Amino acid sequence: MIQKTPAEIVLIKKACEITRDALIYAKTLVKEGVSTYELDKSIEKFIIDSGGSPACLGYEGYPAATCISVNDMVVHGIPSKDIVLQKGDIVSIDIVVAYKGYHGDAARTYPVGEISAEKEKLVKVTKECFFKGIENLRIGDRLGKLSHAIQTHAESNGFSVVRELSGHGIGRRMHEAPSVLNYGKETDGPAISENAVLAIEPMINAGKKEIGMLSDGWGIVTRDGKPSAHYENTVLFTRNGLEILTLEKDDEYYSR
Ligand code: MF3
Ligand code: CO
Repeated sequence: MIQKTPAEIVLIKKACEITRDALIYAKTLVKEGVSTYELDKSIEKFIIDSGGSPACLGYEGYPAATCISVNDMVVHGIPSKDIVLQKGDIVSIDIVVAYKGYHGDAARTYPVGEISAEKEKLVKVTKECFFKGIENLRIGDRLGKLSHAIQTHAESNGFSVVRELSGHGIGRRMHEAPSVLNYGKETDGPAISENAVLAIEPMINAGKKEIGMLSDGWGIVTRDGKPSAHYENTVLFTRNGLEILTLEKDDEYYSR
């Protein structure tokens, strides 16, 4: 596991602050009648005005600044003028910001107006999966402790965990070792190093775990057409515990 230097951590933290602020801004734009293309363009401008750059744009040929995935889209939705938010939708917005060569990565799933009880529970449980995963997690622990806790929480609520996609180390590159699985045995995976930085990102389906890919080569959708949610933060592991670098300051986590 890559250990970051103090100087690198300063830059990663700045990238993460811009990522967090871009998501907070994005939330204010989520409304019935707005296309995911318009959301993407506004978020892109926000990132650039904040001194960062949108790292997804051009990454392995990806054509937009952000990934925006509605309802049964799991992740990697390409923003489009043809995808217009409707009341009752859930919209997952995934943002990666580069700042002076370092990256921050986070995602949230937001409701559009009133949503069904099933979607409400899915969004809540997906966020809880992240927090159950990091509960009592410290350097030296196997990454499987996190993975197992995420899977257990999702499945005990009747939901399923996407297998083909995972979290990842992050820093100079958007995707670094190790893979951060959202399922598995507690004893699996590498031990967490001091000053490791990981993007932890449960992707949870309301129905079955199977996914498919759209013909655009990016969009991932559930096979059964049921909704999916995504919640992601970039996390720094230190001797004194972990720091969630992309978390909103008013999140209830900070008032535990
Ligand atoms: N945030 C995504 C991830 O963690 C990155 C989207 S893929 C990209 O994998 F091509 F859009 F960058
Ligand atoms: Co990520």
